[in-house]
Amino acid sequence: MKRIYLDGNSLGPPQGDVLGRIARFVADEWDGQLIGAWNSRGWWDAPITVGERIAPLIGAAAGQTVVGESTTIWLYKLLSAAMHLRPGRLEIVTETGQFPTDRHVIDSVARQFGASVRAVPSAEAASAVSEQAAVVSLCHVDYRSGRRHDMRAVTAAVHEAGAVMLWDLSHSTGAMDLHLDECNVDLAVGCTYKYLNGGPGSPAFAYVADRHVEAIEQPISGWVGHADPFSMDEYHRPAPSIRKMLSGTPPVVALAVLDHALDAFDGADMAALRSHSTALTGRFIELADARLRRHGFIVATPRAAAERGSHVSLAHDEAYAIVQAAISVGVVGDFREPNLCRFGFAPLYLTIADLEAAVDRLEQLMVDGTYKRHEFQVRAAVT
Ligand SMILES: Cc1ncc(COP(=O)(O)O)c(C=O)c1O
Repeated sequence: MKRIYLDGNSLGPPQGDVLGRIARFVADEWDGQLIGAWNSRGWWDAPITVGERIAPLIGAAAGQTVVGESTTIWLYKLLSAAMHLRPGRLEIVTETGQFPTDRHVIDSVARQFGASVRAVPSAEAASAVSEQAAVVSLCHVDYRSGRRHDMRAVTAAVHEAGAVMLWDLSHSTGAMDLHLDECNVDLAVGCTYKYLNGGPGSPAFAYVADRHVEAIEQPISGWVGHADPFSMDEYHRPAPSIRKMLSGTPPVVALAVLDHALDAFDGADMAALRSHSTALTGRFIELADARLRRHGFIVATPRAAAERGSHVSLAHDEAYAIVQAAISVGVVGDFREPNLCRFGFAPLYLTIADLEAAVDRLEQLMVDGTYKRHEFQVRAAVT
């Protein structure tokens, strides 16, 4: 039975010959060049060169995108930097139900700066910004419902109040066209192991708008972000470029794998990918209404295409067991608290026929009651 992978919004599958790329990396670069590869094979600049390959996917001109830390660490660096950009403003605005790591980092940065956190329902985020707010930090696409913010309108409202806009693009990048420069976004972060298929734990990217690069201060000054690292200067002098956002030695092996994964997006028409994505999610919602609603599923994702990302969540009282049962029949999605079956539709490799086959299998397991089996009730550590 063909596996239908609807979890590329969580961990993208390998694209192309990843094994070959890793084998070549070890043989030609690591073993072949040893320490010389830092220069001869571009290891030192990989956070920048790989960043430049992500830039066109997020609508960023050169010099603003860098790769290397996890999304969590980038959030910490960029939120701290945003507080420095707006001295005297002591509030961080966010949305309730944020992805946990975003909220945890917001809370810890607020503690460090003696700032308060204002969390409001996502639809109210733009209007909740006042002159107190230094930064507004939001997820472009919500990890649970799949709700998508209007990046342009929200960013404009945030600027109107004089605050800095930070977007988490983890559930957007690689599934749609993004226009950070055009929308005048200040700061952004995003995972690369989801729709970009960079591999488990692949390093995330950060975007800092050109106009902030000179003044921005990040909190972890390390030698890799120094203007002249091999001067071995005892005191930090930040690089006069996006490189200043880096801190320590970059994860070169992971960057090589991510670089390979990005080949799949070479010359990609992101607007065309987005329209395929909305066709996929739209068809799935249609079929869920027609064939799954009678089995207790409720569509928990916005029905207006412009208001959703590339995954669809179906609420159901038995969501956990249903997701496990679906995996047993080759339909891989995931479960999110409290009651969501989440299905991701990566437009790069999924077809309408795939999702129709997935709905056939989901319907069948509800008709058969397969999900009621004891084995599907047992919770694993990762859901
Ligand atoms: C919106 C969002 N931000 C951040 C993360 C994860 O961050 P990290 O890679 O640092 O664990 C995720 C992971 O699913 C996410 O969905």
